[in-house]
Amino acid sequence: MPVNTSTAAIAAYMNSPAPANLGGAFDASRSSDAVVDGARAAVARLVGAEPDEVVFGPSTTNLMFAFTRALSRHWQAGDRIVCTQLDHDSNVSPWVRAALDVGATVEMLPVDPVDGTLDVEPLVEMCRDGRTKWVAISGASNLTGHAPDLARATAIAHEYGARILVDGVARVPHLATNAAELGVDVLSTSPYKWYGPHAGALIVRNGLLASVEPYRVRPADYVGPARWETGTPQIELLAGIAAAAEFMLESSIAEVSASETQLLARLQEGLHDIPGVTVHGPSVTPDRAPTAIFTVSGMAPADVAAALATDHVAVWSGDNYACELVDAMGLRAGGGAVRAGVVRYTTGDDVDRLLTSVATLTRS
Ligand SMILES: Cc1ncc(COP(=O)(O)O)c(C=O)c1O
Repeated sequence: MPVNTSTAAIAAYMNSPAPANLGGAFDASRSSDAVVDGARAAVARLVGAEPDEVVFGPSTTNLMFAFTRALSRHWQAGDRIVCTQLDHDSNVSPWVRAALDVGATVEMLPVDPVDGTLDVEPLVEMCRDGRTKWVAISGASNLTGHAPDLARATAIAHEYGARILVDGVARVPHLATNAAELGVDVLSTSPYKWYGPHAGALIVRNGLLASVEPYRVRPADYVGPARWETGTPQIELLAGIAAAAEFMLESSIAEVSASETQLLARLQEGLHDIPGVTVHGPSVTPDRAPTAIFTVSGMAPADVAAALATDHVAVWSGDNYACELVDAMGLRAGGGAVRAGVVRYTTGDDVDRLLTSVATLTRS
C-alpha cells in the first residue's frame, strides 16, 4: 500500500538545519535548489512533461491570471479566445479579463444543457477563420466529472493555428493525463487535489515558456520555468509536492480509475434509486472523473449539504465555481446542485452512509 509522505517531507525541509533561499553558492541553498528540481521532476513524471516545463505557483487560479495577462500582450482587437461552458471559472475569467484589456473577444463552446457533456466538434467552426488564438478547455469537469475529447480538441486547435490550454485540476487525480502524448500547449494541475499541499502548477510546453514574456522583476532574468515564478517559491511545499507526486506514481492510475468508477456507479445508481432525488450530469463511464451531482426535491442544495454534514458526510453545494455549466443546465435558480465525489480513500461504506443520509432526508 503506497504511503503518502507529503507532510513528512514538508516537516523535514522546515526542520533541516538551514532552510535557505534559492540560488546561493553554499550548501543549504544548494539543498533548496535540489528540492525545487526534485518537485519539477516528480510532477513532470506524473503528467507526462519535462521538468523544465513545470511552473509552480500559489494556486492554479493565480497562475492562470498571471499567464493570460502575459499572453494578452500578444493579442489584438479581433482576436478570439474560445472558452467552454464546462469549465471551472479559473479557466474562464482570467481569459475574459485579459481579452477585455486588449479588445479581443471570448466565445463560449456550449455544453449539452441536459447532461452537461461537451462536444468539441463545433471548435472547427470556431477556429476555422484563423482568428482563434487559444482554446481553453476542461480536462474533466469539477462538477459533473465529464471529460471531453482532448485529443480531438487539440487536433482541431492546432490544425487552425490556435494554442490549447487544458485545465487538468479535476482530471489528473483520477484519469491518466500525459501532456506530451496529448500534445497540449499548457496543462494545469493543483497538487492539493492529489493529496499534496495547497499550490498550483502549469505545464507550459511547445516553446511558450521562452516566447511569452512574463510580468517579472528585472533581476529574475532566468531561463526556464523560474522566470515565471514571481518571488521566492514556497520551497517547503515543493518538498511536499514532490512526495505527493511520488505517492500518485506508486499506484497504477488505470487501477485507481477503475475502482473509483465502480464506487461512482454505486453512488450515482444509489442516488438515482432514492425517491425525490434527481441525478444530473452524464451516466457513469470509465473515462470521466468520479463526481456525481444531484438535487433533492423541496430542499436547497446548501441545506442538503448542511444536513449531511451533521451525519459527518462531506459534500459540496452551489455552483462549485462551474458558473457557466450550472447556468446552462438550468440549475442556478435552485441554488446549483449537491456534489459528492469519490477519491482514493473513499470506501463502499462511505458511499452507503451518504446514501442512507440522503434517503433519511427525503423521508422526513
Ligand atoms: C477544475 C478546476 N479548475 C481549477 C481550479 C482552481 O484551482 P486552484 O484552487 O488551485 O486555484 C479548481 C479548484 O477546485 C478546479 O476544480
